[in-house]
Amino acid sequence: MPDLSLLPPSATVEGEDLRIGGCLMSEVAERFGTPAYVFDEQALRDRASEYRAAMTSRHPASRVCFAVKAYPSVSMIRVLVAEGLGCDVVGAGELRLALAAGADPATIVMHGNAKSDQDIEAALDAGIGYIVVDGFDDIDRIERLAHRPVPVLLRVSPGVESATHAALATGGKQSKFGVPVEQVPAAIARMRAVPAIDLRGLHAHIGSQILATDQFEAAVDALASLERFEVYDFGGGLGVRYESHDVAPSVDDYAERLVSAAHKHLGEGIEIIVEPGRSMVARAGLTLYRVLTVKRAGRLHVAVDGGMGDNLEHSLYGQRFSPLVVGRWDAEPVVADLVGRHCESGDVITPDVPLADPAIGDLVVVPATGAYCFTMSNNYNGALRPPVIYCADGRARIGVRRETFDDLLAREVDLP
Ligand SMILES: Cc1ncc(COP(=O)(O)O)c(C=O)c1O
Repeated sequence: MPDLSLLPPSATVEGEDLRIGGCLMSEVAERFGTPAYVFDEQALRDRASEYRAAMTSRHPASRVCFAVKAYPSVSMIRVLVAEGLGCDVVGAGELRLALAAGADPATIVMHGNAKSDQDIEAALDAGIGYIVVDGFDDIDRIERLAHRPVPVLLRVSPGVESATHAALATGGKQSKFGVPVEQVPAAIARMRAVPAIDLRGLHAHIGSQILATDQFEAAVDALASLERFEVYDFGGGLGVRYESHDVAPSVDDYAERLVSAAHKHLGEGIEIIVEPGRSMVARAGLTLYRVLTVKRAGRLHVAVDGGMGDNLEHSLYGQRFSPLVVGRWDAEPVVADLVGRHCESGDVITPDVPLADPAIGDLVVVPATGAYCFTMSNNYNGALRPPVIYCADGRARIGVRRETFDDLLAREVDLP
């Protein structure tokens, strides 16, 4: 029997099929086509409640803001906001999505290492909770654009070299994000000289797919070496399982370590914000593909009807996944490269992976693709970006429709 532990908790094997959120994956594939991003909606809701409970039970003045970058869709934000989450947005575009989803502006935090005037103006117009100042230029921009005091946090680069892929580490000494610890006093002094800036607290985010909780404590420690404030935003970053042998901290473990460290080093009279992205949505989502070709040429290449167009995680960070061939539960696995249909050898979903005797037309499920895959989907080779399907109580609904060939041409000005 396959390892279902990487799929949403509702996943069950049913004969030759897989049921998620009460829906058979063969029927979802038939009705909506492949490739398709599929979510277990209840799993999303449960994860949001789990995060809120883990934080507020330990520190009532906590807020959980969904990092919209992990899944920038109105359909997703609406589900999570209904469960009481705020939003962390980068720039005016993600802010627009959050507002369209009905997020309360007061629960929105805006980041960006290089904010434009347009970003700042959008944040000011919407009256969001906090703009997170990432450097001295942000201070100048806010001073120029804001006409009354704006609540802000200051992003600190805490000098924590997190043990994750270099592309996902954001808190080290060479990082492009935030203000290095030694420059923080100057940044605070500069902000205090600007009447339009109401500095309320500090922020640190050390990276993504972090599996060692002591690294979050190190970031708290770094912030505790600075002047004290009323608000602390500890970013996101909690890692998730992608392969059976992966071990990831639970949300409770994470909250326990983070809140204990905050209480110890910063006291209990503070407001805490966390901004989970990946760990909020990764496991609730999967990608459904069909096998298009199986080629034995030196290596065994199993090519599906998607690839780099809908999942860049392997190409960008070498992320591995654990695909399942639906229905071939008892077949002897063969080691293959699960590849896509894009014109590049780097178009690999996962290399060297055991796959159960795949054949053309088989349905392949890639678990734990709920975070950052939709985000970075693209039109490489004219690929149409896949739809997003939410399954709940046996009903499947479309959150985002599949792109069409007309969509591909929609921005072209030079059409005959
Ligand atoms: C400032 C900030 N907050 C939160 C997140 C979300 O991180 P993750 O998806 O790893 O939880 C990120 C992503 O890197 C980020 O840059």
